[in-house]
Amino acid sequence: MHREYEKEIQELLGKMTLEEKVGQLNHLCPTTYGAFAFSEEELIQQMREGKITFQELESMRLPQQDCREEDIRAGRVGVYAAVGRKEARRLQKIAVEESRLGIPLLFGRDVIHGYRTITPIPLGESCAFDEALWEQTARMSAREAAYDGVGLTYAPMVDVSKDARWGRIAESAGEDTLMNARYGAAKVRGYQTSDPSRPDTIAACVKHFCGYGFVEGGRDYNRVEMSEQRLWEDVLPPFQACVEAGALGVMPSFNDINGVPSSVNGWLLRDVLRKEWGFAGTTISDANAVAECITHGVCADAEDAARQALTAGMDVDMSSGCYPNHLKELVEAGQVSENLLNEAVANVLRVKFSLGLFENPYGILEEDPQPFLKPAYRQLARQSARESMVLLKNTGVLPLKPETKLAVLGELAADAGEMTGTWALDGKGEDCVGVLEGLKARGARCTYYASVAQIQQADVLLLVLGEKKCDSGEATSKTDLRLPPEQRALIRAAAMMGKPVVAILLNGRPLVLGELLGCADAILEAWHPGVEGGNAIADVLYGAYNPSGKLTTTFPNASGQCPCYYDYTPTGRPASSFQCTSRYLDVPMEPAFPFGWGLSYTTFSYEGLKVEKQENRIVLGVTVKNTGNRAGVEVVQCYFRDPVARRTRPVKRLLDFRRVPLSPGQQEQVCFQIPVEQLGYYDERARFVIEPGEFVFMVGGNSRDVLTTSIVL
Ligand code: BGC
Repeated sequence: MHREYEKEIQELLGKMTLEEKVGQLNHLCPTTYGAFAFSEEELIQQMREGKITFQELESMRLPQQDCREEDIRAGRVGVYAAVGRKEARRLQKIAVEESRLGIPLLFGRDVIHGYRTITPIPLGESCAFDEALWEQTARMSAREAAYDGVGLTYAPMVDVSKDARWGRIAESAGEDTLMNARYGAAKVRGYQTSDPSRPDTIAACVKHFCGYGFVEGGRDYNRVEMSEQRLWEDVLPPFQACVEAGALGVMPSFNDINGVPSSVNGWLLRDVLRKEWGFAGTTISDANAVAECITHGVCADAEDAARQALTAGMDVDMSSGCYPNHLKELVEAGQVSENLLNEAVANVLRVKFSLGLFENPYGILEEDPQPFLKPAYRQLARQSARESMVLLKNTGVLPLKPETKLAVLGELAADAGEMTGTWALDGKGEDCVGVLEGLKARGARCTYYASVAQIQQADVLLLVLGEKKCDSGEATSKTDLRLPPEQRALIRAAAMMGKPVVAILLNGRPLVLGELLGCADAILEAWHPGVEGGNAIADVLYGAYNPSGKLTTTFPNASGQCPCYYDYTPTGRPASSFQCTSRYLDVPMEPAFPFGWGLSYTTFSYEGLKVEKQENRIVLGVTVKNTGNRAGVEVVQCYFRDPVARRTRPVKRLLDFRRVPLSPGQQEQVCFQIPVEQLGYYDERARFVIEPGEFVFMVGGNSRDVLTTSIVL
């Protein structure tokens, strides 16, 4: 974190009036639709489709916060929702040239998985297990967004979530802590680079700090009850990794943990984030979250919410109005110390200095005739989509032969606009290549049918199934994870035709696939794959790209199995066929597909797993061989277990992974170097310990099928 601006910050603070200080903490949003991840246009569309009523649409509209020019001129706004290149420049000019101190505005935007060039949803992209890719796609979105006047993105989202009922599972890197840490840090590097003052960077505001992925019952915004151990071991490490990677912002979460909403949680925002981790950037509240502490029942009114949030360490109030309406009076009345206010303002100014806004408030100056969706960007989006796809099942029908006559079924095949998935605010349906277009571009012999009954000539039935984009993301919790009834009927009808069935899944969360598991000869999980989705799907179907993605989220067998995840701790009565064991009567304990699962068009073998300790590292070696007849990439996964400890430890936990490209017959010695520290845990008093004893290590191509070895430390 860049602390070299302290002199300038203090000088500026010395000149600021109370009102100007409060202004820096005010994040205005011109029109906010509740806390929803939809634009006004999309909500109106939903209303037209009868999904929401007019009253519901209106109830989502928060008070319009028109930013009047005189507010900017008077220094009453510090952060503003992005408004596009031209308007951003106009407003910035007012801030810089016409306000008393010329402090630039910072423009924030949800750039979650691409700006205009939409890449797969984060849950999808995490399945690539490719840190270089994660960084490159973040770099690409930063360039596009920065060109359009964006200075900060509310991303990456690194909420570990083990519950597919929660629609926001689409937005992070899945159920595993290490995955979220690696993914988040790569994104921070991509958005900010090592020099965030470059005009083509944007600040990363990592969210949602923290525990949001553990909302009770998977119901969005719900309460969170969590042990200190889970907090330290599962939830916090990805945030710490992002802070260490230099994230300039942190967004506290909506939820409470054990009764305290994050927006007013001083222990989290001051003790953990600042003191323990040394975070020197700024905290920005989630939309309206400061005011929502009143409905949580921990603040009496807006004034109390402003007082508690600022005191806890919330620097910026996004759109709730509590700070602009009350902070000045609270400081004047001595209820909030001016020092605390100064600290918060300094944090915001530090981010603005770090971004180089004082030297160049306008970002990328040169006009670019094609700032978005450049051919190279599309190419990267296609690569990212291909790497994200997970081949769940394949009896050999894939890859398809060019001459195969394909009957394509399912509404989603013909709806390119659905490819963007959730949180693609600046993505446009017309930019997307849908499944049908992708197949046609590849020269596939395919026909699109509205019903199975019409199909006579086809060799293979291609069912395009899944969820619409509005079915995952914020406020989209579900209790039933099965495919919709009409899709289940389609599957049954297709199965009756006696022809091979291939299913493509477009979705934002693990689904319960039910009869599809048996009926389909191949299942390709494509997630919501972004603007190049259709091309990428065709690449994989026809074998131009050999699939290599692995699941970062477990697929349950039934909705009632949630939360369903791989790194659970053992009970005293592990599930078995005996009656009094930890199991359900009506579903198997195993998931439909485990964490790390994913097939290829070739096969890989694992041999000769060895372990030794070298200084303070565990060194593991294994030989991985491509035993098939196609080149492919294997994601080699390394897990461990501490079988006896004072606290019960997960049956398996991911330690590291490696993407290994192998040509047919080629083998490679893959080596993992694991710092011993990674084997430690938080004891019953939340002290970090590494206990001596036996440690078991597992290496394989998924979390279930592994080679095992152990060592005594
Ligand atoms: C979401 C955040 C998002 C913010 C601003 C909130 O409703 O929880 O993830 O960054 O809105 O759009």
